Amino acid sequence: METTTPAPFTVIPNRRPASDEERWLAMEDPVFGKVFTDHMARATWRDGEGWTQRRIVPLAPLPMHPGAAVLHYAQQAFEGLKAYRHEDDSIHLFRPERNAARLAASARRLALPELPAEDFLASLEELVTIDQQWVPGTPGASLYLRPLLIATEPSLLVQPSDEVDYLVTASPVGAYIATGDQGASIWVSKGYHRANAGGTGEAKTAGNYAASMLPQLEAKAHGCQQVLFLDAKEDRYVEELGGMNLMAVRADGTVLTPSLSGTILPGVTRDSILTLLKDSGRTVEERDIELAEILEGIEAGEIVELFACGTAAVVTAIGRLVSDDFDVTVGDGSPGPVGAEMVGALTDIQYGRAEDTHGWLHRV
Ligand code: COI
Repeated sequence: METTTPAPFTVIPNRRPASDEERWLAMEDPVFGKVFTDHMARATWRDGEGWTQRRIVPLAPLPMHPGAAVLHYAQQAFEGLKAYRHEDDSIHLFRPERNAARLAASARRLALPELPAEDFLASLEELVTIDQQWVPGTPGASLYLRPLLIATEPSLLVQPSDEVDYLVTASPVGAYIATGDQGASIWVSKGYHRANAGGTGEAKTAGNYAASMLPQLEAKAHGCQQVLFLDAKEDRYVEELGGMNLMAVRADGTVLTPSLSGTILPGVTRDSILTLLKDSGRTVEERDIELAEILEGIEAGEIVELFACGTAAVVTAIGRLVSDDFDVTVGDGSPGPVGAEMVGALTDIQYGRAEDTHGWLHRV
């Protein structure tokens, strides 16, 4: 990763920010990612010049050449992280250094320039500071930050762009998936895959999500909220959901999760939960997990709980696994105790209700 002393982000304030009333209305019960704050962060990269024009500007549509490489070849990478308001009104980012490192790793895979971690952190601090009134103070809500690198060079040549933009938008959000008393129903996709060895599965990049949309429609058609993908080689091992990692709890309390084999996104929430599970004395197994092990385990009462985790979704209980040839309910279909314990432990740290023993919070 480039290490430079970061230049500050110049702030150009929005002259027409939302009124208090507009903001309160927008923040009342926002649909995930549909409400945006008054500003965005930007920086520009040019081959030979490096990163320049670090700025916070009013949120506005982007003027973009229709030949911009990102529109044709999806040369882009993105991140997702949240800012949390504590009871004393201080605002904290959760493990942003991890997102900086992952964006750099995704950038390397997509042949994009790496943004120095110092710039990444400075952009978030400045954006959250100027839009601090948009950070919700209601339980379970937060400000979702979406850093983005896009290839803007007008060029139809399939080659790395020599012009790249960095952008960050901010959105007040509540729950990503509303499941109520029952866990989510998950469609296990056979035939469609999210990632293959040597592909872009472990990068956070648009193509992985684009590839998940058709199977997501298939899931909806079968009454399911999300898709679980299997490995592309054998359709045998569970990998991850469309935007979340998977965890399974055995009757003896051991927690299983697919190992980071190169096709799975290294989730920050995944890593945090694995740490919290170990803190609570539980055994964790990161390894290849066959779908058959999960299905037979559920039938035999050996797998007692499944949950998904991610920044947007936090922890989402899974109540049912469905595919063409099976439909199994996990336990009685309702959220299990380990997932519930993890939501509590994680959000207690994020919202400042528990001691941050791992130094995960970054005060803005
Ligand atoms: C996130 O959890 O931050 C993601 O990017 C996942 C997406 C499904 C919203």
